[in-house]
Amino acid sequence: MKAPLPIAVFASGRGSNLQSILDATDDPAFPATVELVISDQADARALERARLSGVNAIHIAPGEKRARLSEEADTRLLHILAEKKVRLVALAGFMRILSGRFLREFFGQVINIHPSLLPSFPGLDAQDQAVRHGVRWSGCTVHFVDEGVDTGPIILQAAVPVKSDDTAVTLAARILPEEHRIYPEAIRLISTGEVTLVNGRLSWRQERGESL
Ligand code: GRF
Repeated sequence: MKAPLPIAVFASGRGSNLQSILDATDDPAFPATVELVISDQADARALERARLSGVNAIHIAPGEKRARLSEEADTRLLHILAEKKVRLVALAGFMRILSGRFLREFFGQVINIHPSLLPSFPGLDAQDQAVRHGVRWSGCTVHFVDEGVDTGPIILQAAVPVKSDDTAVTLAARILPEEHRIYPEAIRLISTGEVTLVNGRLSWRQERGESL
């Protein structure tokens, strides 16, 4: 059997998506393993979840910038990932924008989960945006990360209905279980090479299933 793909998960908060990935990797047949969990928040629940699973949990002090990591933090991050030979970075509720330098070093190796059907409602408060626009369907998207905000090539999506009395909170609660389902699945697809990025577009080894 091929060695599992070493991945890192970056998370700033609750870490429920991280948990779904950790749960998936509990299966020895899963083709990826979580080498480290990184957070810009020292008290993130995600770090606690990592420790409980016996995974390296590292807090990176983000520096003074609001939305980005400082250059020092960026350098430290790249150093740690190189040391652990990480081959895929999964952003799971990570509230910092990665630098161009980081994305060039990890070109095609960073993915994200977003709680809307991209390209609708990128950025913050996606569920609130969906409710305010009155869309009938929303959902979640796993995509490769490029230098834009929530703009990279899409790997998997799942749709859920939006009800007329939904609030951002009730909609988020309907979307979240779908996130927990498709994020580990996307990681599996990348780790087995079923999905690759070719010239900035997704390439499927076999005809892709349309059921997700
Ligand atoms: C999720 O809704 C994810 O789509 C978004 O941030 C939230 C993180 O939740 N990017 P959790 O920390 O994984 O529970």
